[in-house]
Amino acid sequence: MQYKNILSETKNGITTITINRPSKLNALNTDTIGELHAAFDAADSRNTKVIILTGSGEKAFVAGADISEFADFSVEEGQDLAARGQELLFDFVENLPIPVIAAVNGFALGGGLELAMACHFRIASDNAKMGLPEVSLGVIPGYGGTQRLGQLVGKGRAMEMIMTAGMIDAEQALNYGLVNHVTTQDELLDLCHKIAGKIMRNSSTAIGAAIKSINANFKEGVDGFNVEIEAFGRCFGTEDFKEGTTAFLEKRKADFPGN
Ligand code: COA
Repeated sequence: MQYKNILSETKNGITTITINRPSKLNALNTDTIGELHAAFDAADSRNTKVIILTGSGEKAFVAGADISEFADFSVEEGQDLAARGQELLFDFVENLPIPVIAAVNGFALGGGLELAMACHFRIASDNAKMGLPEVSLGVIPGYGGTQRLGQLVGKGRAMEMIMTAGMIDAEQALNYGLVNHVTTQDELLDLCHKIAGKIMRNSSTAIGAAIKSINANFKEGVDGFNVEIEAFGRCFGTEDFKEGTTAFLEKRKADFPGN
């Protein structure tokens, strides 16, 4: 499929999705959110074992939701913007059974940091700057930021970051546990590929079940322990489980069929 605002390429089991509006620091407008949804939805677990999400250019991952689009919105339109965005992109990415790594290559602000936080984990380049500056615009994060930031860095740090509307650098983000690794911009995608390679050696069906179970801990009204028990049981019916246990007993490396 041809996209206007993003690039998507699949090679050796890794799909790299690049938000490609560098002149607007990759700000997320409605079209871009729609295209990102389509690209994530198109990732087929038979060909794609890991997805890497990054931004085009050297300056930004995503500098936020596109402010020019919502500056004159009404209360209802504002609510609809947040609800549709969360459903189409942010919750969608978080709940994908395929691992999604955010390669944070520069500014990740507002909706950009919210998007990175919806990914399963984050790796940053040393020039990256992260923050939720919405209150400086008279609004709050609306793409899950008030929920996911606290989950990742703790309530007090989330409160401070959101109230001050400030930015933290990559080192502080590492210190906060907001990103898992920091590297140079040149080496960012290589490190993502290296980690993706480690993930791809494992059972993709089991990884999908693990993502669902880990996410269950953060869902209102869901008993994560029960989700885990059910998902654990279902693994026993997969070809991957047969291959994984057989390979171990035969003292060889598993070659998972992915079903
Ligand atoms: N929405 C719409 N356009 C944006 C944008 C956003 N969130 N962030 C950057 N842009 C646009 C700028 O308007 C500018 O476009 P122009 O050249 O047509 O005027 C272009 O991207 C480059 O940005 P600029 O501000 O000139 O770059 P800078 O290096 O001086 O500053 C930032 C970089 C990230 C500090 C600054 O762009 C910024 O504060 N962006 C908004 C961040 C924000 O509040 N995000 C939360 C939104 S809810």
